Amino acid sequence: MSTRREPGSRASPKRIAVLISGRGSNMEALLDAGLPVATVISNVPGARGLDIARARGLAVSVVDHRDHPDRATFDTKIAEELDKHRPDLVVLAGFMRVLSSAFVERYTGRLLNIHPSLLPAFPGRDTHRRALEGGVRIHGCTVHFVSPALDGGPIVAQAAVPVLAGDTEESLAARVLQEEHRVYPRAVAWFCEGRLSLTSDGAVCLEGESRATGVLISPPLGP
Ligand code: GRF
Repeated sequence: MSTRREPGSRASPKRIAVLISGRGSNMEALLDAGLPVATVISNVPGARGLDIARARGLAVSVVDHRDHPDRATFDTKIAEELDKHRPDLVVLAGFMRVLSSAFVERYTGRLLNIHPSLLPAFPGRDTHRRALEGGVRIHGCTVHFVSPALDGGPIVAQAAVPVLAGDTEESLAARVLQEEHRVYPRAVAWFCEGRLSLTSDGAVCLEGESRATGVLISPPLGP
């Protein structure tokens, strides 16, 4: 009998809040994995992800950054919205605003992000273009706890993909996104199962981590 668990299948009743700005495909992957998303908040009124969340009957809200005079006021409003739902975990899923240190510190240890590169390589935007320009052979994505340093928080999980001859930004982004949709639900499920935490000295603690099974070499070494 298999003892392998799918993401979310044994999730304790944790409450997740998801922050988005656009397409919402990572949010959708969390929902597809059966994870306990209580609310979705977007800073962009017309974000496609809001339609997906509404169609699934989730509580959604919009906090438009353009309605707020500065970052501190916007962050305070987001925190107010979040706290109405008493989240155990706040998941950034394509949320395209930099959050203030005060906000990050308020949710330390329960704030996760996914970034489309193998951090610490390529923090910030345009990661796929910069990976192609840099000539890297392996690219990927990173799930990390959020710290005040932009894309600099403690790393939870990474997925790597090869960069192929003829790749464009779009083809490479699509290959990475496919892995984002696998690794993010898994990491969030670990948190919900009580296996993933951040220690007081800022280290990632993952209980029951299994041994790596392979190695990705790109291009393949061949015979
Ligand atoms: C993803 O590539 C994510 O890593 C990055 O923004 C993109 C969001 O895509 N932070 P989606 O909105 O989840 O489809």
